[in-house]
Amino acid sequence: MSEEKIEGIDYFVDLQPETDDFLSTVLDGLSQSQKTIPPKFFYDAIGSKIFDKICEAPEYYVTRTEIALMKEIGEEINSLVEPKSIVVEYGCGSSLKIRALLSALPDPAEYLAIDISKSHLILTIKEIAADYPNLRVGAICADFSDALDWPEQARSEHDQRLAFFPGSTIGNQTPKEALEFLTRMRHMVGDQGSLLIGVDLKKNTEVLNSAYNDAAGYTAEFNLNLLQRMKKELDAELDISNFEHDAFYNEELGRIEMHLISQLDQTIQVGGQNFEFKKGETIHTENSYKYSIEEFSELAQKSGFAPVKAWTDADNLFSIHYMSAV
Ligand code: TRP
Repeated sequence: MSEEKIEGIDYFVDLQPETDDFLSTVLDGLSQSQKTIPPKFFYDAIGSKIFDKICEAPEYYVTRTEIALMKEIGEEINSLVEPKSIVVEYGCGSSLKIRALLSALPDPAEYLAIDISKSHLILTIKEIAADYPNLRVGAICADFSDALDWPEQARSEHDQRLAFFPGSTIGNQTPKEALEFLTRMRHMVGDQGSLLIGVDLKKNTEVLNSAYNDAAGYTAEFNLNLLQRMKKELDAELDISNFEHDAFYNEELGRIEMHLISQLDQTIQVGGQNFEFKKGETIHTENSYKYSIEEFSELAQKSGFAPVKAWTDADNLFSIHYMSAV
């Protein structure tokens, strides 16, 4: 752990999150009967850029709906959160979201950003520090899904701590992992704390399927970029055109699944090892669980948060929950 000075930033703690070894993770994932690669490897510089394009695709309603909803409920959030609160954001994605929140809050005291990507983190906190001169701004560079302690540099008086977890990123974990993660957030914000979390809703299968199969092909490009990374970084021997993007709603499990489907019987090589694929066999690359308001409230209550209020947009596409520690 090291503390760094960054101009204009009150504190920056670098926990040097060991980016999991890509090679060993891929070798391990491809050795399982259902081949799999965990989604965190999507986000190299190219993947992050493609993801920004997904967020603007007309079919991908998630980002746009959440930002509009945040703005709509600003006044209510303002009345629920105490002045001088400390906002902790888990994974600083689109700064539009944190801006909508900070602008809604009554005189927030501090913004603490947590992100695994140091460059992205520094960029975001600098922007926010410049635009909110009265705000204390700090950051922890870490894998936010690890257990983290409250940093000693942060204000620790009796101020209310508000955890902010937008983007339905909670849906990329299984319900069991989500519960563990919510419990860690609950621990971090303490007994006076609260949580504002964006959760994608269960809905019509067609709407879901097209959101993850945009016509411009950005989601496909995002998914296939994993193979590109394997070629570039691991010298994998494979032909990308022998795989296709597949995303579908698994109604029974309440989740979108993303896969890369092998178009033929083939053998690929990674790290000197051969991996055989049958035609139609897949690499499972991501889940995105969808919850009804009730399902999510129930899950979160097991972690020590009590539902205070939940909002949805007029089309019932997306939900934002405000919960407080019990
Ligand atoms: N958490 C968001 C979701 O599940 C964003 C996301 C993660 C995503 N991976 C994705 C969106 C892949 C599209 C494709 O919707």
